Amino acid sequence: MSDFETIIYEKKNSLAYVTLNRPQALNAYNLKMRDELYQVLGAIRDDSQVKVAIFRGAGERAFCAGADLTEFLTAPSPLIARQARWERDIWGLFLSLNKPLIAAVHGYVLGSGLEIALCCDIRLASEDAQFGLPEPQLGIIPAAGGSQTLPRTIGGAKALEILLSGRWVKADEAERLKLVNRVVPRKELIPEAERLAKRIAGFDPLAVASAKQAITRGLDLSLNQGLELEARLACSIT
Ligand code: COA
Repeated sequence: MSDFETIIYEKKNSLAYVTLNRPQALNAYNLKMRDELYQVLGAIRDDSQVKVAIFRGAGERAFCAGADLTEFLTAPSPLIARQARWERDIWGLFLSLNKPLIAAVHGYVLGSGLEIALCCDIRLASEDAQFGLPEPQLGIIPAAGGSQTLPRTIGGAKALEILLSGRWVKADEAERLKLVNRVVPRKELIPEAERLAKRIAGFDPLAVASAKQAITRGLDLSLNQGLELEARLACSIT
């Protein structure tokens, strides 16, 4: 177990657990959490013992209620922000991880909370989950990849409607939209994520990493390029 301030990072056998841990602020994503999440993602990437990671939120009410509004407008100038992003591209790192990532979300899943879930490969939600991207209402746009990951997940039309209208989506609709893979009762959320993670962790890690890459990288390619990618990946594991 780690001694981060905003995140609990634990390993049990081959599973890593990343718990966003600011329940008093509905696990709002602040600068400290950004820095700690960056370290945790590096640990998941580099630790050969970790085969699957589960992301979840502490407390009863939220996975994450988005960016910390108390830090809103205290961000550095665009120039400094761009420099920081160059030096520490957390969302690029998140999306480049070859290990399977499972988001197990409950309660409020807003703004960067939804974007974190969208950086994961499989999303399980409890029946009380609610999803939304409130950024345009605050005069900003999603900056954690959401404007790209949401339409790739649910299609452009629905992504535009949800982002532009600011409306929230409840768990049953999220499942219909394929925003989440499955909705389960609250008490089943973590056990279900663990069952899935343990099953995947039992497979050959190279085959799992290659299968993940074939799909996630292939989605950005033409069919022909995707087939070439698949052939290369298949060769590399035989
Ligand atoms: N940033 C910082 N603090 C937050 C937060 C956020 N995004 N979301 C919630 N909190 C804090 C509240 O300030 C409150 O703190 P307090 O107890 O010290 O007053 C605590 O978390 C509980 O939230 P509260 O608003 O009292 O709960 P609620 O049930 O009435 O409402 C929400 C829940 C999610 C509807 C409401 O908190 C909200 O709208 N949050 C902001 C969502 C948002 O716009 N996120 C930014 C996306 S870019």
